[in-house]
Amino acid sequence: MVSSIYWNGEFIPYGEVKVPLEDRGYLFADGVYEVIRVYGGKPFALGRHLERLKRSSMAIELPFLLSTEELSAAAERLIALDNKKGDTILYIQLTRGAAPRSHIFPDVVRPNLWMMLKPFLKEIDYRNGVKAITVPDERWSRCYIKSISLLPNVLACQKARREGAFESIMIRDGFVTEGSSSNFFMIDEGILKTPPLTNYILPGITRQIVLELCNRKKIKYSETHIGLGEIYCAQEIFLTSATIEIVPVVCVDRVNIGTGNPGEKTVELLNAYRENVSVFP
Ligand code: PDD
Repeated sequence: MVSSIYWNGEFIPYGEVKVPLEDRGYLFADGVYEVIRVYGGKPFALGRHLERLKRSSMAIELPFLLSTEELSAAAERLIALDNKKGDTILYIQLTRGAAPRSHIFPDVVRPNLWMMLKPFLKEIDYRNGVKAITVPDERWSRCYIKSISLLPNVLACQKARREGAFESIMIRDGFVTEGSSSNFFMIDEGILKTPPLTNYILPGITRQIVLELCNRKKIKYSETHIGLGEIYCAQEIFLTSATIEIVPVVCVDRVNIGTGNPGEKTVELLNAYRENVSVFP
């Protein structure tokens, strides 16, 4: 049950929010978003998520009217209003606001910015790992923007579920980009590899934190292009996002990865990540 919603500067009960039908988020998916994990009332890496929201907003030529400090204070207040103290997810959405339907931006843009806190319900089998499938990456070429236009991601994720898998790994021109809602990592000959930050992937906050953990733990890594064929020979594979953290992948397209169990480095990084969830800014 969701309690209060932050809606353009106000905190209102969930059932009382009135979203205009002509919000450009509905009409054109003309907006951007963020998803933040809140551990025991503490939003994790909130500053980094808000900075990315700002970058996404600028990338779609949508003025970012609040400062990240103001937005951070509003998020903290929403969390404080919530009476659940367990793990929750903070969802933030910013659209180009309501206006009569036209592909052209309205002359006067009144963005709609809202936030919602909801319980974290995902059940993930960290102990045994999960299965994944590969699918063609059918998205546009500006995937670094965290746009609410997610139809290719939704269809890719649903295909995975239909085939009994947890996630779809997307392949563009023979190379791995990312998961439908996660970043991709693999261990090959003891070295951690992940696709480089190009316009074809989202610069994941969890991805960045994993690389920082590698620096601390002296785990060698390489941001490099990964061909489809390489993934079946990986020693370990894992996927990352704010919600799923670090999830071991033990099977891709029915091919077992490594021993078919969560890999040693994956488990080490997952444990390190969990130990650090409150300390990263
Ligand atoms: N998705 N790549 C894509 C396409 C994503 O949608 C996400 C996150 C990530 C991981 O980013 P981060 O580590 O910053 O969460 C990578 C969120 C969780 C979602 O859409 O629900």
